[in-house]
Amino acid sequence: MPHLDPYFKQVDSLQDAFIERLREAVAIPSISSEDARRPDVVKMGHWLAGQIKALGGTVELRELGKQPGREHLDLPPCILGRYGNDPNKVNVLLYGHYDVQPAQKSDGWATDPFTLHIDEKDRMYGRGSTDDKGPVLGWLNAIEAHQKAGVDVPVNLLMCFEGMEENGSEGLDDTIRAEKDKFFKDTDVICISDNYWLGTEKPCLTYGVRGCNYYSVEISGPGQDLHSGVYGGTTHEPMTDLVRVMNSFVDPDGKILIKGIDELVAPITAQEDALYGPIAFTMQDLHESLGSTVSIHETKEEALKHKMRYPSLSLHGIEGAFYTPGAKTVIPAKVIGKFSIRTVPNMEIDEVTKLVEKHVNDEFAKLKSKNTMKFHIVHCGKWWVEDFNHPNYTAAAKAVERVYGVKPDMTREGGSIPVTLTFQEELKKNVLLLPMGSSTDAAHSINEKLDKRNYIEGTKLLGAYLHYVAGELKK
Ligand code: BES
Ligand code: ZN
Repeated sequence: MPHLDPYFKQVDSLQDAFIERLREAVAIPSISSEDARRPDVVKMGHWLAGQIKALGGTVELRELGKQPGREHLDLPPCILGRYGNDPNKVNVLLYGHYDVQPAQKSDGWATDPFTLHIDEKDRMYGRGSTDDKGPVLGWLNAIEAHQKAGVDVPVNLLMCFEGMEENGSEGLDDTIRAEKDKFFKDTDVICISDNYWLGTEKPCLTYGVRGCNYYSVEISGPGQDLHSGVYGGTTHEPMTDLVRVMNSFVDPDGKILIKGIDELVAPITAQEDALYGPIAFTMQDLHESLGSTVSIHETKEEALKHKMRYPSLSLHGIEGAFYTPGAKTVIPAKVIGKFSIRTVPNMEIDEVTKLVEKHVNDEFAKLKSKNTMKFHIVHCGKWWVEDFNHPNYTAAAKAVERVYGVKPDMTREGGSIPVTLTFQEELKKNVLLLPMGSSTDAAHSINEKLDKRNYIEGTKLLGAYLHYVAGELKK
């Protein structure tokens, strides 16, 4: 069993410094989806590169070129870092992202989203705290604590940190393909910390994610926004058409109404079905993380299957709609509805898109509207499932037991991390998701947080994993 106590002790003593590191990171509003924030995303990348170098690592920045479809924007750089270069050690590739979801205090945050706020229960609030700045910094914290404890980092670390994950990892696949026989050549296993426990107490290891096909429907007609008193009743209205089309995708119980989608889903085998019962998860956990009891399903097993194993379709928003408080008697001239489908085995991206596009065209045609409709693919990433009977997972399970004293649950995730599949397919190495945060962290939502305990014990976990994986894969 690796001798980890000096490392663990050092993590405890350095916790204030680690929290300061997170505070600095959260203060950079690296929102990848907002044009005006792109310089902050780049700044965040450089900050992170600086942190790696300050710890004695080396960094190569890969520029990814222009953002497809939005050529006025440069993509933020991909950071390829390396710590250690010992041919006798195992090479562990770490992936994470330094971009975040949008956030504004006016969305309903209790405190400024870009100022780390620690409350009386040691919950650390801030955009990116759990998704994914805390976990990314966890790896750097682990290096620092090893150094200060005088404990050798038992593996070589390769790092791939990107700034477009929240936008479908634009540009990254090409870089991975280009670097697979170069920077990534010696990778033995891959570890990603960018997901969450199912509840608040029990750690898990994650061996699958759903894919995400993101689409938009643009409907336009009038030459400009119109007064609804003057023109209402005389013109086809884009919003009326769009609401009809968007209303046809899914029923209130989450059933997808697009013909042919269900047939693409692989049936659940009896063996698979048995996996959900033993997972430590309750409807109460679900309600706690929902912040409400509005769940669709009655049992934990059904809820878990619908999160991990079945597809879902969500409506996200309407660009061009009047949405601010107050009453405005306007007919918007052009509206863009946005929605996405979370995909599972064996749904192929193109097959799904074909069905969705046909559905949208058919529904729009039914309206007999003179407006113009355009269907767009925004981004698509495929689902991923990994073999968890692999030393990468054995090592992580041992590390969880060492740090938390329990065996982790084996889970799949409802959310998506497009690069998991690219790594699996291109590098042909085992990929593990090793989460730091918990189900109540509210990633993507208001008041996103990471509990101090998860950050500090999570840092211990990431460091411990490196020791166990070195042991399992000994060269
Ligand atoms: N950290 C999430 C992925 C995730 C979400 C893992 C939920 C576990 C549970 C990641 O940052 C994310 O949000 N990804 C996007 C990807 C999408 C834009 C392709 C997502 O899932 O919406
Ligand atoms: Zn994330």
